[in-house]
Amino acid sequence: LKVLSVASEIYPFVKTGGLADVVGALPGALAAEGIAVTTLVPGYPSVLKAIEGAETVYVYHWFYGGDARLLKAHAAGLDLMVLDAPHLYDRPGNPYVGGDGRDWPDNPIRFAALSRIAADLGLSFVPAYQPDIVHAHDWPTGLTPAFLRYSGRPHPPSVMTIHNMAFQGQYPRELLPALGLPDHAFSVGGVEYFGTIGYLKAGLQLADRITTVSPTYASEICTPEGGMGLDGLLRARGTALTGILNGIDISVWDPATDPHIAAPFDAANGAARAANKRALQERLGLAVDPDAQLFGIVSRLTWQKGLDLVLDRLGTLLADGGQLAVLGSGEPGLAEGFGLASIGNPGRVAIAHGYDEGLAHLIQAGSDVILVPSRFEPCGLTQLCALRYGAIPLVGRVGGLADTIIDANDVARAAGIGTGIQFAPVTGDQYEAALRRAAVLWRDRAYWKKLQKNAMKTDVSWLRAAASYAALYRSLLAERA
Ligand code: ADP
Ligand code: GLC
Repeated sequence: LKVLSVASEIYPFVKTGGLADVVGALPGALAAEGIAVTTLVPGYPSVLKAIEGAETVYVYHWFYGGDARLLKAHAAGLDLMVLDAPHLYDRPGNPYVGGDGRDWPDNPIRFAALSRIAADLGLSFVPAYQPDIVHAHDWPTGLTPAFLRYSGRPHPPSVMTIHNMAFQGQYPRELLPALGLPDHAFSVGGVEYFGTIGYLKAGLQLADRITTVSPTYASEICTPEGGMGLDGLLRARGTALTGILNGIDISVWDPATDPHIAAPFDAANGAARAANKRALQERLGLAVDPDAQLFGIVSRLTWQKGLDLVLDRLGTLLADGGQLAVLGSGEPGLAEGFGLASIGNPGRVAIAHGYDEGLAHLIQAGSDVILVPSRFEPCGLTQLCALRYGAIPLVGRVGGLADTIIDANDVARAAGIGTGIQFAPVTGDQYEAALRRAAVLWRDRAYWKKLQKNAMKTDVSWLRAAASYAALYRSLLAERA
C-alpha cells in the first residue's frame, strides 16, 4: 500500500514545530505496518541541499509563474518527492515568513502549487510514482483534496490531518483562477469560507477522512470554543473525523544513547539524571543546586502555549526555591519578558533565545519539571519527550495534554499510576495551584522517583498511532473496492 504524504515541513530538513516531527517520523513507523510512504515537500534551499543529485521525474513549463521540476530522492531514511520551483521556494527565512517576520505575500500560490502537485501524483499524471492514498497535513496542503475532486477524474481517496486549527489559510476569492480552480469550486460544499477561499476548510470539506492528533482535540474542535469557525463543518462530517495520538521518535529521544546530554540514563537507573541537571545549571548560569526544583520550558513563545502565565506567576515558582530554564523563540513580548526575568533573578531564571536541538535534549534530561501550560494543544510533543526523560510534565488539561499525562492526584497515587500534574481551567490561579502541588510532591523524594519511573515507562512511541493510520488507510481502500 503506497501513501503520498504532502506537507510544508519535514524533520530533519525543515522544521518550525511539531508538524515537521510528525511528518518525518510517520514514514518509518508505517513501514513496519507494510505501508510505503513517500513525502512531497517544497524545494526550500535546505531540502535541495540534502538531496543533491536527485533524479528529475517531471518537468513543468510555466507552473504558477515559473518553471519547475519534480525531483525524486531518498535521504535520511525518507522517500521524498521535492517540488523544485525556485520562483516559489528558493528564499531565506522559514517556510511561511520572510526575514521581516511577515508572511510571504505569495503564500496562497506557493502552497496551492504544492497541493496541485500532490493531486497530480494522485491522478497518475507522473508515471514515476502512483500512490493508493493521498494524505495532506494542515492548511498549506488543504487544497489537495480540492484539486483531486475538481479534476473530474477518478482519483485515490484522501486524508486530511489537522495539526493546528489556529492556522487556516484564508485568501481573497479573486485568486481562484490563479490557483487553477474552476469557478464552481467556490461554493459552500467546496473551497468557499466566509466569502473567502479557505485552504483548511477545503481540505476538511473534501477529504474522504479527517484526522487530528489527539482524541480530546478531536472533540474540542467540534465545539464553538475550539472549532475556530470550522466546528459546524466538522460536526456535519461526523464520523469522518477521528483523533490519533502522536508519538515521538524514541530513537532520537532516548536518554540511554542521547549524544546531546551529559550522562546517559534510563528508567532503571534514574540517578544519572543528577549529572544532567548539574550540566544544565552550569550551561545556563543557574546556581548549581541539586535540591532546587528545576522547571524547564522548550517551546514556541506564543499565546497558545500559555507562557504569559509562567511570567505572571513567576513569584510562586521561585518562592519555594525553584529555578526556571527556558529555551524558545517567537513573540518578542514574551522573549523580552523572560529576558527581564532572568536579569532580575540571576542564577534562578535563565533564557536561551532561538532554536537549539541539543539544548532542548539537555533541558529534558536535566529539568525536574517540564512546563506546558497551553491554552490549547492539539497534541504536544514536548510533554512526551519529558515523560521519556523523567522530567515530570506540568500541563494544562487540554487536547493531547489531557490524553497523555496522568495527573498524580490521590486516586492515581493509591493506584501507583501518576505521571505528571494537570490543571484546569487554564488560568493563572489554577496554574499557580499546580505549581504549589509540584512543590509539595517534590518534597516527597521517594514519591517523586516513583512518578519519574512511571513517566519513563509510558509508551510514547509511534507504534499505536502507526497501527491506527494503517487501519484507516486500509478501511478507505476497502470502501472503494
Ligand atoms: P508545536 O508544534 O505547537 O510547536 P509540539 O510540542 O508539538 O508544539 O512540538 C514542538 C517541537 O519543537 C518539539 O519537538 C520541541 O522539542 C521542538 N522545539 C520547540 N521550540 C524549540 C526550540 N526553541 N529549540 C529546539 N526545539 C524546539
Ligand atoms: C501542531 C500542534 C501540536 C502538535 C503538532 C504535531 O504544531 O500545535 O500540538 O503536537 O502540531 O501534530
